[in-house]
Amino acid sequence: MDIFSQIGPLRAFLDQKKSVVKSVGFVPTMGALHEGHLALIKESRKENTITVCSIYVNPTQFNNPDDLAKYPRTIERDIDMLKLVGCDVLFHPSNDEIYPENSIIAFDFGSLEQIMEGKFRPGHFSGVAKVVSKLFNIVQPHIAYFGQKDFQQFKIVENLVQELKFNVQLRCVPIQREKDGLAMSSRNRRLSDEQRQNALVFYQSLQLAKKLLEQGLSLSLIKEEVKKYCESKPGVSLEYLELAEATNFVQTESVKTNAILLIAGHVGEVRLIDNLLLNE
Ligand code: PAF
Repeated sequence: MDIFSQIGPLRAFLDQKKSVVKSVGFVPTMGALHEGHLALIKESRKENTITVCSIYVNPTQFNNPDDLAKYPRTIERDIDMLKLVGCDVLFHPSNDEIYPENSIIAFDFGSLEQIMEGKFRPGHFSGVAKVVSKLFNIVQPHIAYFGQKDFQQFKIVENLVQELKFNVQLRCVPIQREKDGLAMSSRNRRLSDEQRQNALVFYQSLQLAKKLLEQGLSLSLIKEEVKKYCESKPGVSLEYLELAEATNFVQTESVKTNAILLIAGHVGEVRLIDNLLLNE
């Protein structure tokens, strides 16, 4: 695996490769890799001649400085994992490389970022769009891979690509779960054993909500039930449970053909999200 920390040499390397390879797949990450990330790399390897992964903990997408400071950083282990799955190129830049001067541009995705993650993490999606734009301009991939766990982020990136005419196709890869159903996340490693058990409540809540929707209960009653259920577990608090149309990400009260249930909350200090597509 070739490893780059600077934009210039990475661009020169990729320019040379692009003259001989058919397609470049790109998997942007913030590291602390797990099977969920590796699934993205594997998908990219199936479809592309070379796969580039980036590992960069992007400061502009953290609205909570403590969350940024505590975000797990495991670069040596990440490199070993990437080599094992056959990733071709790693881009691991410093903050100075990505943000050499104070960043003054900001993105506003309107109603798409006034709900759920956007509402609870002000500025988060502007930061995501900033770094994803920079990374797309640096790597110029043919196809980029994102995880379904961050479904609203995927919708934001879809909008970004459409509006700014990035010449890249996007893929949304299904959530990878632990055996008991917990959605894989870099943040899971911050949970104690007891918290890890209690964190399952979010996946169980999605399943409970799906069952209750099928039984015809109203969304507002389901939200009350789910809040009670989540908060019966020590240290767990619920931020939101919402139902949206998967295609346009507009919130809805009842199941349409392509609906998705989304949940977010805390276990202790650790903020977790999960979702469930209802047509599966
Ligand atoms: O999903 C993530 O890990 C990050 O939000 C991303 C897309 C790598 C941007 O920093």
